[in-house]
Amino acid sequence: MNAAEAYEKIVRPLLFLIDPETAHNFAIGFLRRASQVELVLRGFRRFQPAAKPKTVFGMRFPNPVGLAAGFDKDGVALPALAALGFGFIEIGTVTAKPQPGNPRPRIFRFSEQQALINRLGFNNDGADLVANRLRQWRESGRWPAIPVGINIGKSKTTPLDQAPADYLHSFRRLRKFADYIVLNVSSPNTPGLRSLQERESLSILLRAIREENRTDKPVLIKIAPDLSTPELEAIIVSCEENHVAGIIATNTTLNHSSIPTARDEAGGLSGAPLREKSTALVRDITARSTIPVIASGGIFDLESAREKFEAGAELLQVYTGYIFRGPGLLREIVGGLK
Ligand SMILES: Cc1cc2nc3c(=O)[nH]c(=O)nc-3n(C[C@H](O)[C@H](O)[C@H](O)COP(=O)(O)O)c2cc1C
Repeated sequence: MNAAEAYEKIVRPLLFLIDPETAHNFAIGFLRRASQVELVLRGFRRFQPAAKPKTVFGMRFPNPVGLAAGFDKDGVALPALAALGFGFIEIGTVTAKPQPGNPRPRIFRFSEQQALINRLGFNNDGADLVANRLRQWRESGRWPAIPVGINIGKSKTTPLDQAPADYLHSFRRLRKFADYIVLNVSSPNTPGLRSLQERESLSILLRAIREENRTDKPVLIKIAPDLSTPELEAIIVSCEENHVAGIIATNTTLNHSSIPTARDEAGGLSGAPLREKSTALVRDITARSTIPVIASGGIFDLESAREKFEAGAELLQVYTGYIFRGPGLLREIVGGLK
């Protein structure tokens, strides 16, 4: 039995018996410990997909399929995740201050719909502690040989009008460890955060980061799928004016129409039901701008991955699809790409 079969036949059925956040903590705990043991990392590397290098933002990616933000929020498992064969890893969302997130339960699994709803609310160790951890990875010699993005967001207790200072704190602490930085303005689980996508607020935030960004670190923004065309157009203008290096499309959706009402929960929906909507957004962006797009939303197989490239994406990120499919997903997509 290979790793893909072992995941789908044994690991996933066991993980899906338990509460989703407990399953997540178990998985991340395993990957965290695996990150310390070279022999285990070597075992993981045997299942890596073949190299399909691609250069974006002037950076070389060994393959175009990355791990989306939210899986390793605190950067505890970088070596293991790299060994599994992702083309890049995005950690975070990290906020300036450490915070516990919303009360549990806060992740919900919908197997039939191949979807998750989460309302985690940026539970994370905070920028200072994460920076220390990343420094330790660097010093340990286990820093991965693939691009690492760091996704930053606003602390819950920081008022919206002080958001730029909050992002700046994380930017300053974390930039030296990041190959690119993502400004997350699209999580539905921090009250008011999505309003930072509005023209005026977004311009203020982008200008503040740009003035600080003397080393010209690639700065991307991650947007919601629930945007109207005029809202999207305003975002693109703002990104172009402020030299934003890329757009991640998309975060989770607030449209829960695919979920039976009796089982619905507050939060952001990810997975298969998000696929079409987020592909449409990728298409809308690439039709209007040459800003590179990283596609995220409902990638479950080679076909859904191809759809994102055909819509104009340069790179992909997976999250929910990886939970459902495991390491076989990466091999299927990367192996199937030309
Ligand atoms: C449990 C969970 C936690 C997430 N946390 C974050 C986060 O902290 N920051 C972020 O930008 N996106 C977060 N996301 C969104 C994912 O990065 C991704 O953009 C989204 O789930 C759509 O992709 P998917 O359909 O492949 O899951 C999270 C998603 C899930 C399911």
